Amino acid sequence: MTKIQMTVNGKTVSGDAEGRTLLSQFLREELKLTGTHVGCDTSQCGACVVHVNGNAVKACTMFAQEAEDADVTTIEGMAEADGSLSTIQQAFQDHHGLQCGFCTPGMVMSAAALLSENPQPTEKEVREYLEGNLCRCTGYHNIVKAILAASGQDVSGIAAE
Ligand code: FES
Ligand code: FES
Repeated sequence: MTKIQMTVNGKTVSGDAEGRTLLSQFLREELKLTGTHVGCDTSQCGACVVHVNGNAVKACTMFAQEAEDADVTTIEGMAEADGSLSTIQQAFQDHHGLQCGFCTPGMVMSAAALLSENPQPTEKEVREYLEGNLCRCTGYHNIVKAILAASGQDVSGIAAE
C-alpha cells in the first residue's frame, strides 16, 4: 500500500492504494464517494466517468496512483455550493433523462465535459459524445434532450419519449 494524495471536489484528500487499485475503487472504497458507479470495470459502460484535470475519464481505466496530485471531480462535486442541483443535473430531472439512475453519474459527468468543450452541441454531436456511456433504461432520447436543454437550446420541438 502507498499513501496517495489528490484533490477531489476541491478538497485535498489522501488514502491508501495498491499499485493495482483502480481510481474508481479508490473513490468508492477508500474515499466512500459511491456516486461514481461501476457497471463493468472493463471500460465499456461509462458509469464511472469522472473528471481528472478537467478531462472526462473512465475511472475504471486508470490506476489510483496515476491520479496522485491530480484534480478530480466526481458527481458529488457537481451540485451548486448551496446544495441545489447543477444546471445539467436539473435538466436531467426536468426532461426525464434518467430512470433507474445507474448510468446517470457517468452521463452527467460526460455531459459536463462535452458542454465545457462545446457549449452548444448539435443533437448528433451529443449522441456521438455519449457513445462511451451505456444506458439500459431510457433509450437515450431524453438524456440527449436534457443535455441540449442544459446547453440553453430550445428543445420544445423535440418530442418526449
Ligand atoms: Fe468503468 Fe464501466 S465501470 S466503464
Ligand atoms: Fe437506468 Fe440509464 S437510467 S441505466
